[in-house]
Amino acid sequence: MSLNQLANSLKLPCGAIIKNRIGKSAMSENMATKDHRSDNSFNTLYERWAKGGSGLLITGNIMIDHTALGEPRNVVFEKGHSDLNLKEWAKAGSQNNTHLWTQINHPGKQSPKFLSKTPVSPSAIGLRPPLNKLFNPPRALTESEICDSIERFAYAAKVSKDNGFTGVQIHGAHGYLVSQFLSPLHNQRTDQWGGSIENRMRFVSEIYKAIRKEVGNQFPVSIKLNSADFQKGGFSQDESMTVVQHLSEQGMDLIEISGGTYEAPVMTGGRKNSKDSTRIREAYFLEYCEEVRKIVKTPLMLTGGFRTSKVMDEVIGNGICDMVGLARSIAVNPEFPNELLAGKNVESSVKQLTTGIKFLDKIVPLEIVWYTEQLKRMGRGEDPQPTMSVLKAAIGTVFNTGVQGFKKVRAK
Ligand SMILES: Cc1cc2nc3c(=O)[nH]c(=O)nc-3n(C[C@H](O)[C@H](O)[C@H](O)COP(=O)(O)O)c2cc1C
Repeated sequence: MSLNQLANSLKLPCGAIIKNRIGKSAMSENMATKDHRSDNSFNTLYERWAKGGSGLLITGNIMIDHTALGEPRNVVFEKGHSDLNLKEWAKAGSQNNTHLWTQINHPGKQSPKFLSKTPVSPSAIGLRPPLNKLFNPPRALTESEICDSIERFAYAAKVSKDNGFTGVQIHGAHGYLVSQFLSPLHNQRTDQWGGSIENRMRFVSEIYKAIRKEVGNQFPVSIKLNSADFQKGGFSQDESMTVVQHLSEQGMDLIEISGGTYEAPVMTGGRKNSKDSTRIREAYFLEYCEEVRKIVKTPLMLTGGFRTSKVMDEVIGNGICDMVGLARSIAVNPEFPNELLAGKNVESSVKQLTTGIKFLDKIVPLEIVWYTEQLKRMGRGEDPQPTMSVLKAAIGTVFNTGVQGFKKVRAK
């Protein structure tokens, strides 16, 4: 181990080596073409990040079905939908010996009204108020649709590998379809896909097996998983441990730990007590990660809240996790990983966003809107703009999406 723990390489169970311990966590770019293909802006953005020093870049979530989108400009990987830019994107983002993994996702019922008239979910249970204003009530998936979704995940993984991406991540967190299956609140099925935790995790387990069959044993396969849903009666930390253990035994190469859903959006802001240690205040899901570390050897990437080189170095050094996942810090400063790797004592500039107008802060998902604008700037070859007006970004979104779309709602 070197003095700067973040600079050490990491060998995954499949044999792949990640050159350092910094992972850029997935951030939805929402900048695909109208027909859900990537274009040159993706190449420009990922080239910038690859040069920034992270050992691993994970793409924003890519949808496996064009009829089930999380956002209007998601990239889609599905049969009959070719994307001629993918090889260029993979090449741009994997230069500088960087691993570039796709994150593949199905939103389930977290597909907004203006995108899905009737979204699907394990059970026909809608999101609670006020989110029911933004998302239509879902219908329950049939058994054959469940099997079709599993095949779609596997196909998206194959597309990733065939086009030069160096790994794949299943989005199993933040309340999307995989996470809906895991939750006893959202999954009340009485067949083999619901009920006990063994049944609820069958969906993700089958997705993993189908992907492995498609990509082989030497290709990194990862999952982003919730430590918990932070909802009464939802997916608990104990159940999450059971899932982690199971996926680890199946051969998962990296488990990324996050938390929360649209209904309890803790993924971009922890609920820490000011009396907690700096380490705990900074990394939202640290205590859970410490518990997971005790039960599995699978490499762990902890994401959410990391800001200082000191804390990052400490958690890697004492073995709580094997990688630190960074999102917003790298959206405003693509050079941040290089600064960390240089062994400097650095701190990210990420701060709580506000428009200064309470009403707007409540109705607009500021974290998503403002940071997505930064990604778009980099996609155009410009620098991010940390001083960008939060108010301007918020007003722009309200105009683009329509005030009704955001009324009384704060999704994520
Ligand atoms: C603009 C934006 C888009 C995001 N999109 C995704 C996504 O597509 N998939 C995902 O797993 N997480 C997504 N996240 C969550 C981040 O990956 C990460 O978990 C969260 O921002 C906490 O990390 P941070 O404190 O380093 O920002 C997104 C976050 C932001 C700010």
